[in-house]
Amino acid sequence: MLENIRRLDDLPVEGRRVFCRLDLNVPLRDGKVGDETRIRAALPTIRYLIDMGARVVVASHLGRPKGKVVESLTLEPVAAILAELLDQDVAFIPETVGDTATKVVSDLRSGGIAVLENLRFNVGETKNDADFSKQLAALADVYVNDAFGTAHRAHASTVGMVSLVADRGAGRLMFKELEFFGRLLQEPERPFVAVLGGAKVSDKIGVLKSLLNRVDRLLIGGAMANTFLAAKGAAMGASLVERDKLVVARELLAAAEARDVGILLPQDLVVGADPDAVSGRTVAWDEVPGDAMALDIGPATVDAFGAVVTGARTLFWNGPMGVFENDAFAVGTTEIARLVADSDALSVVGGGDSVAAINKAQVADRISHISTGGGASLEMMEGKTLPGVAALMDQI
Ligand code: 3PG
Repeated sequence: MLENIRRLDDLPVEGRRVFCRLDLNVPLRDGKVGDETRIRAALPTIRYLIDMGARVVVASHLGRPKGKVVESLTLEPVAAILAELLDQDVAFIPETVGDTATKVVSDLRSGGIAVLENLRFNVGETKNDADFSKQLAALADVYVNDAFGTAHRAHASTVGMVSLVADRGAGRLMFKELEFFGRLLQEPERPFVAVLGGAKVSDKIGVLKSLLNRVDRLLIGGAMANTFLAAKGAAMGASLVERDKLVVARELLAAAEARDVGILLPQDLVVGADPDAVSGRTVAWDEVPGDAMALDIGPATVDAFGAVVTGARTLFWNGPMGVFENDAFAVGTTEIARLVADSDALSVVGGGDSVAAINKAQVADRISHISTGGGASLEMMEGKTLPGVAALMDQI
């Protein structure tokens, strides 16, 4: 797959307008950028292009403004951070396409950089509209996609415009992500263990099915484990349970048994009155009181999961083990973060919450690869070819 995609070094960028699709969809807190990880992750590609004398046009989405201008979702503050990190001027263009965008881009000098306004302020972006794709392509001599986190979306900036630009390829981050996921998907060293958490089974049915064909052990925690425990007959009290997914959960448990894949579910749980409760108490998996919610995995589960994680040679983790934003229910997730970091396995962590937990536990430097993709990383693990990646492949 990767051999069919051009790398940055193969693209003629000097003096040319290089349209760089990045995923700068950063979390916002009180109107400010809450986490710079995705901006920093794009720097190797941007720095290379600047050093090579390209005229760099950065494009990204931010949030889901649904084709309307939503002031709080402007990319202007992101452009300001980019300028600080690069230590050079970055022009912010207050529109994505139009006369101003065309003029600023055509006036860019070699080594200069401009950031277009949020792609999703335009209704054509998420519709992969042909006219909007053409307008975007008119700003580009070369197309570079470094937005791994958005590569599962078939939008104008990730798919529609790509075939309209003669020279196209993938950036440094996109290659790094594809290489690590390739290592998980093709002949992973065994045992291969996946740890899945998060709120809903319904978001992860595809990846659960796919993982059953790939991994040796599957550890399930977080609220999605509640649905599996309910499927096994536990009452679960006031916990979040997807009643309409009990049948799917039973089918997945049966499929795992048939394939000899061990699924480990929580043996004990930390329960509380609600997610904001100041403390919790530990109960067995089938003894959640009627008025309580399961909000974290318990210590016996951490030990059981830990033994499996420690023996793994390849690890994939997506989704927290509980309501880790509340310290009263953060222990399970933080312990999993530490265990993954302590392991000698090739470890790949995806999804905003798991990455936040890795950062909270201060173990990021001991993880082999922290993916910038949430949904994209899950679709990779489903074995899908992402549309944004496929669009880059029809060349060479
Ligand atoms: C993400 O944060 O997962 C990507 O930026 C994609 O965003 P989306 O789910 O709004 O398409």
